[in-house]
Amino acid sequence: MSQQLSVIGTGVIGNGWIARALAQGFDVVAFDPDPQAAERTRAFVANAWPSLERLGLAQGASVERLRFVDSLEAAVEGATLIQENVPERLALKRDVLARIDQAAEASVLIGSSTSGYKPSKLQAECRKAPGRVIVAHPFNPVYLLPLVELVGGEATTPVHIESAKQLYESLAMRPLVVRKEIEGHLADRLMEALWREALHLVNDGVATTEEVDAAVVYGCGLRWSLMGTFLTFHLAGGEAGMRHMLEQFGPALKQPWTKLEAPELTDELIDRVVEGCEHQAAGRSVGELDRRRDDFLVELLGLVQKYWPEAEGLEGRL
Ligand SMILES: NC(=O)c1ccc[n+]([C@@H]2O[C@H](COP(=O)([O-])OP(=O)(O)OC[C@H]3O[C@@H](n4cnc5c(N)ncnc54)[C@H](O)[C@@H]3O)[C@@H](O)[C@H]2O)c1
Repeated sequence: MSQQLSVIGTGVIGNGWIARALAQGFDVVAFDPDPQAAERTRAFVANAWPSLERLGLAQGASVERLRFVDSLEAAVEGATLIQENVPERLALKRDVLARIDQAAEASVLIGSSTSGYKPSKLQAECRKAPGRVIVAHPFNPVYLLPLVELVGGEATTPVHIESAKQLYESLAMRPLVVRKEIEGHLADRLMEALWREALHLVNDGVATTEEVDAAVVYGCGLRWSLMGTFLTFHLAGGEAGMRHMLEQFGPALKQPWTKLEAPELTDELIDRVVEGCEHQAAGRSVGELDRRRDDFLVELLGLVQKYWPEAEGLEGRL
């Protein structure tokens, strides 16, 4: 039987879910109040499709299996899975999720792409079956990056999480179940820490945006693709591993090198960051840069698999 992903909100992330689901042979029904949305989505999917073809399409996968409808209620009808991707504003998300919960069959899982909100906050106004409203946080570009963080709220049971794991696996993803709900889940906590420090470095005139990016691209970023923070530092301790690494660099944590609080987003800092990024883009459009990043990611995913072949799923690495 065919599977249907219902997508509510078709910006950067909603479109990413759409491209992924189409490539996995799902039917997709989408709703977004923006009159330009359908046209924008078709262009987005066309841009993503060559990379998806290179990764391998599921049997029956087709861009023709996408349908836009003109209400949220119509979009969730017949869904196997519903994904909410409206802007990151709590009141809006609560309202939209309450409407989805009301309209959808009680057994259908509802994932929110929220980057920061706890699922209990999102479930708060859902009256019908709040436990099936969970966080399912993806990474941009959603159609290529396999990780999805799954977080349950107060009303969620292990059965919901188990069914969520299976559903997102059927979209060829690597679900990572987050044990406790916290703002920012796991990965955004990490990314925000780096982001905060990067803004300080630019704000203090220590580096340009390009120089900060070079530090990531030619240094720590290359290692992170394969090993992440902990295993990378285990190797940094030499044969004695993490214990020696902590003995050597542990004291620096007390200084600390980093600033913890984000800098004020002054007009001057905003201009500096925006102008820095425009200089780095050197006239190339975001679409052009998207394609370059996608080509790179397709090869990188192959490399990660090659150098970590024992990892069938995330569990294999844990
Ligand atoms: N951009 C990222 O890198 C990223 C990564 C992971 C998760 N997220 C999360 O995904 C969600 C969406 O972010 P985005 O970057 O795609 O935002 P976006 O601004 O690109 O898209 C939001 C879309 O929602 C639509 N929308 C607004 N009100 C709506 C409503 N009532 N019903 C249906 N659609 C509505 C808008 O028209 C727009 O197309 C946010 O919760 C964000 O935190 C973003």
